[in-house]
Amino acid sequence: MTDHNGREPQPRPCLLLAIETSCDETSVAVVEDGRTIRSNIISSQIETHKKFGGVVPEVASRQHVESITWIIEEAVDRAGITLADVTAIAVTQGPGLVGSLLVGLVAAKSLALALRVPLIGVHHIAGHIYANRFVEEILYPSLALVVSGGHTELVVLEAPGQFRIIGRTRDDAVGEAYDKVARALGLPYPGGPHLDRLAHEADGALKLPRAWLEPESYDFSFSGLKSAVLAALNQARMKGQDLAPAHVARGFQDSVIDVLTEKAMRAATEFGAKQLLLAGGVAANKGLRTALAERCGRRGLPLVVPPLALCTDNAAMIAAAAHLKWERGEFADLSLKAEALVSLEGWSVK
Ligand code: KG4
Ligand code: ZN
Repeated sequence: MTDHNGREPQPRPCLLLAIETSCDETSVAVVEDGRTIRSNIISSQIETHKKFGGVVPEVASRQHVESITWIIEEAVDRAGITLADVTAIAVTQGPGLVGSLLVGLVAAKSLALALRVPLIGVHHIAGHIYANRFVEEILYPSLALVVSGGHTELVVLEAPGQFRIIGRTRDDAVGEAYDKVARALGLPYPGGPHLDRLAHEADGALKLPRAWLEPESYDFSFSGLKSAVLAALNQARMKGQDLAPAHVARGFQDSVIDVLTEKAMRAATEFGAKQLLLAGGVAANKGLRTALAERCGRRGLPLVVPPLALCTDNAAMIAAAAHLKWERGEFADLSLKAEALVSLEGWSVK
């Protein structure tokens, strides 16, 4: 069909409005065709939670309620569209804090209902992984190293949206370990970026163990490392000494990076990965990015790393993952529930 000027009508772009409220960031984004970020508004609650040394769930949900409406308006405005232009609504369904997830879900369902557009439920970790789509086309099979405040996983992407978890943490997530060690050093929450900075300034490193686990295992463990740091700090204090915080940070970061990079490289070889994708808040870590770039460079394995702003929680990444479901028509109905724990492997099965 042509219009009255004889031109082929352009297909309308797919404009996904995505909402992310799984933890302490309220974020809304508008993304075109799964690849072009038209807007990505992120309102962080870090200043509020800082004084408690971590995220307080009740406070987080209340702040999401207060911010969600203006952030939706801001995201639509900045994208230069109106709500009537939106093709579908995407929302993080889990994992995360249930009270926080619910705020995003209620907003998303209300919009989908009012605008009569489809609703798409997104797994938070699928979002972190597909943030890499804004950098490179994802090739399959790929290997994702997921490192966030709540997750540490090695995930094989066999096909679009098909995930196989081959290794996971048996105790603390890597971001959680960063935050706990930072707290022991008296650094503000979230501690990861502070430890990263200190590690780079260090002129020496505290000697700390590496948890390799069984030789063939892709699992991780960080609680022993965290306890070793706490023990070293206590011992020094009992002797009336103080360990240099930068040396502690460097020793901790070296141990974490050694284990993460070694296991990721081994898995990439075993599973024939065409790319290594870095994902999650700890992907912002300079030391980890540099070490992986160096190892991948030597091996000739393409490394894909999201830009810093897309490493920590944001809604653009949720839209990137939602676009896979959009293409397949995998829509949710209004009974979509918030799930504190939900499997990545079962998230999209088609
Ligand atoms: O992915 P994210 O924003 O939230 C979750 O889904 O958990 O990750 C937050 C985590 C926090 O633990 C924070 O300390 C850590 O990411 N993080 C870092 C860095 N930037 C953020 N950890 C190490 N180095 C960094 N530069
Ligand atoms: Zn996250």
